[in-house]
Amino acid sequence: MSTFWSLYISVLTLGTLIAMTWLLLSTRKGQRQDTTEQTVGHTFDGIEEYDNPLPRWWFMLFIATIVFALGYLALYPGLGNFAGLVPGYKYLDEATQTPFTDGQQGWTAVHEWEKEMQQSEARFGPIFARFAALPIEEVAKDPQALKMGARLFASNCSVCHGSDAKGAYGYPNLTDDVWRWGGDPQAIKTSILNGRMGVMPGWGPVLGDQGVTDVSAYVITVLGGRSLPAGTRADPTNGAKLFATTCIACHGPQGKGNPLLGAPDLTHPEAFIYGSSLAQLQQTIRVGRQGQMPAQQVMQGNDRVHLLAAYVYSLSQQDADKPQADAPAP
Ligand code: HEC
Ligand code: HEC
Repeated sequence: MSTFWSLYISVLTLGTLIAMTWLLLSTRKGQRQDTTEQTVGHTFDGIEEYDNPLPRWWFMLFIATIVFALGYLALYPGLGNFAGLVPGYKYLDEATQTPFTDGQQGWTAVHEWEKEMQQSEARFGPIFARFAALPIEEVAKDPQALKMGARLFASNCSVCHGSDAKGAYGYPNLTDDVWRWGGDPQAIKTSILNGRMGVMPGWGPVLGDQGVTDVSAYVITVLGGRSLPAGTRADPTNGAKLFATTCIACHGPQGKGNPLLGAPDLTHPEAFIYGSSLAQLQQTIRVGRQGQMPAQQVMQGNDRVHLLAAYVYSLSQQDADKPQADAPAP
């Protein structure tokens, strides 16, 4: 930081502290034990405000914060280029008057974070690397790996997919057997590493309202095996025709989806992330949807993602006798 900005910050900081102290002392009234009878002179709905002195403890608390601020500014960086009296917080190289670029010498919050990351990498890196060398299926059977994977999942994925990984509106369930982009270990790893973006175009302008309702009815009845709400004015036969011309390119002739495009299997309404009611389907088909899974490669690196993939893979393997995606309906 140049000398000008350094001085600017110091003057502004100390000036503010001095001004606050002056304000506090100049408006201070005598510390009488009793209260005054005076009011400040305004009335709102018959409510008046007393003009009493600050309670003594409150006043002392103000003074304490000012003393604390001065102490802090003397000990730690805060006043421009002054690094504070406590050693270890120097970030300017005195010889050249420029900041250290080396994280080991110059102190900044970023360097501090980098140092912590290096320490944790040195500690956990070899463990991550050992698992990264094994196939995902094998890692998914190792209790230590799963514990680490669960912790990574909790801090990086649960915001969207839920702490139980069962998903939420707009975010897929990762514990079932229905996958948008494929559920084999490699597909799961690719989803996490590179991210995914499902693009479902909106069909409202092409199909019109009745067309959207008809094709929704087809998704509900023929593909989903469910019945329509009573009184729905819809023609699933026309819906089937529209499906064949507009939807099968991505969702396939049987509506079973296409993992290359992330087009979901429409025969599993319980796994729809945007809802499976008639109104929700109409909305999805009319305006389209763009779900985005953020890529983790840069933040997590390959080895952590390998563990995460193993953890996610293990979630859908736990329960062997749960219904499988392609099992015939009972
Ligand atoms: C260009 C490819 C493409 C076409 C054509 C297409 N879809 Fe989609 N559809 C997708 C993708 C990709 C998604 C996933 C969007 C997401 O994940 O946000 C999707 C999502 C959906 C969903 C939401 C499922 C859920 O999980 O909530 C429904 C329902 C659906 N499509 C029905 C249709 C119907 C009906 C048609 C024909 C009118 C159609 N789609 C045409 C690619 C397509
Ligand atoms: C910002 C929200 C968000 C975060 C954070 C997030 N995801 Fe996702 N994830 C999504 C969305 C949305 C999709 C669906 C993408 C689509 O529409 O196709 C998805 C899809 C996936 C898929 C593919 C599911 C399938 O059916 O094929 C996997 C696997 C996955 N996420 C794992 C993870 C893991 C592991 C993490 C943590 C490192 C994570 N996600 C973090 C939003 C998120």
